[in-house]
Amino acid sequence: MAKTKTAFFCQNCGTQYAKWVGQCSSCKEWNTIVEEVVQKEDKKSWKTDTVAKQANKPLRVSEITQEKELRLDTLDQEFNRVLGGGLVPGSLTLLGGEPGIGKSTLLLQIALKLPYKILYVSGEESQRQIKMRADRIQPNSENCYILTETKTQNIFQQISTIEPDLVIIDSIQTLHTDYIESAAGSISQIRECTAELIKFAKESHTPVILVGHITKDGTIAGPKILEHMVDTVLQFEGDRNYVYRILRSLKNRFGSTAELGIYEMQGSGLREVNNPSEVLISKNEEDLSGTAIAATVEGMRPLLIEIQALVSTAVYGTPQRSATGFNAKRLNMLLAVLEKRAGFKLGAKDVFLNITGGISVDDPAIDLAVMAAILSSNSDIAIEKGVCFAAEVGLAGEIRPVQRVDQRIIEAEKLGFSKIFVSKNNKIGLKKTGIQIQKVSKIEDVVAHLFG
Ligand code: TYD
Ligand code: MG
Repeated sequence: MAKTKTAFFCQNCGTQYAKWVGQCSSCKEWNTIVEEVVQKEDKKSWKTDTVAKQANKPLRVSEITQEKELRLDTLDQEFNRVLGGGLVPGSLTLLGGEPGIGKSTLLLQIALKLPYKILYVSGEESQRQIKMRADRIQPNSENCYILTETKTQNIFQQISTIEPDLVIIDSIQTLHTDYIESAAGSISQIRECTAELIKFAKESHTPVILVGHITKDGTIAGPKILEHMVDTVLQFEGDRNYVYRILRSLKNRFGSTAELGIYEMQGSGLREVNNPSEVLISKNEEDLSGTAIAATVEGMRPLLIEIQALVSTAVYGTPQRSATGFNAKRLNMLLAVLEKRAGFKLGAKDVFLNITGGISVDDPAIDLAVMAAILSSNSDIAIEKGVCFAAEVGLAGEIRPVQRVDQRIIEAEKLGFSKIFVSKNNKIGLKKTGIQIQKVSKIEDVVAHLFG
């Protein structure tokens, strides 16, 4: 009998070692090296492989014929958008996200809506639990098969009898294959199971969607190699205490990674949000001080968001600065600019900043709206209705141009805004607009316009 071969793997980055070490020399983590049984490798020389009969031959690019790429429409506008137009046959898509964010809900919902034959494999929930969830989501389909199984060989057996058009695996960390002896969720299991699924997908032209767990620092659990192996990596994110969820693509071999999908978690599953700006802005009739609207672009999508600030006299010695959905360091920087360049005494004030809807934004173009909200709260004067902002603020208090300004202006106009503040240096390609474009060059100009 062949001797079982073992090797040591770092559970953090997947580096392989011949013997145990305390610290991984690759990712510098301590105590992450675990011994795992590995498959006995076939010692074949690459030379013998190349003479194999069915080996692929190189072709000139011009010689490669391409049929019109058929994509599987998922009937979910947001999901299609992020994928770049639907699922590509034979592709592997990895969906990552924090526990409880709604990964299983999203995929089950898609599975229940589609008119194709779908196999939903769950290693985490029982068939009854999934049925309960399906009842909440409603549209019950005759084509969706639920399998609770974790052994890949058994899954492939069911696949060959059902012959599904789409396979969903929830989650890759629960799978195990017979060929590897280490525990489910270990590096070598994840790698081997993914490799088997890739082989299946490519040979049968069936798209496969995998759910991947996320570690506490936000990366997909398992080796980085998992992300290299699959064709598309999607991330589902949001704040669990709020209803909005954002689906992003981190890697896409068949489309742009700049696309973004927005969902709202409801009692009956996830609802697609096709016009996010309308839901992210609260429709207050009264004039409230301390709020400003920013025209941002997330990925390719223009989005109008509401920023709220509260400035109050600090009760304790050290003033508090807190920001939700916005980088706290950037907030401090903007406060310093206001203090130094515009002469506002904010040093002894508490400043709280919040982006409504529980979303977080790192587009620098919201700087000006953040400042406007802070100034509005500080002076307790509401910003005029119908005004929004799209500009970055520099350290010298200068208003800087932002990218895709035309798109922002069009979105603001579409939502009925009457005035948008942009940088004087921003090149605007639009010929005629129904919205007043207010060009400003310094933070003082903005103050004069708003409160002057
Ligand atoms: P789930 O899909 O189980 O998350 P994940 O697979 O990412 O761990 O989603 C769980 C949460 O979603 C749960 O806390 C309840 C909520 N939820 C709803 O609000 N409405 C629904 O219709 C469903 C099915 C779930
Ligand atoms: Mg789940």
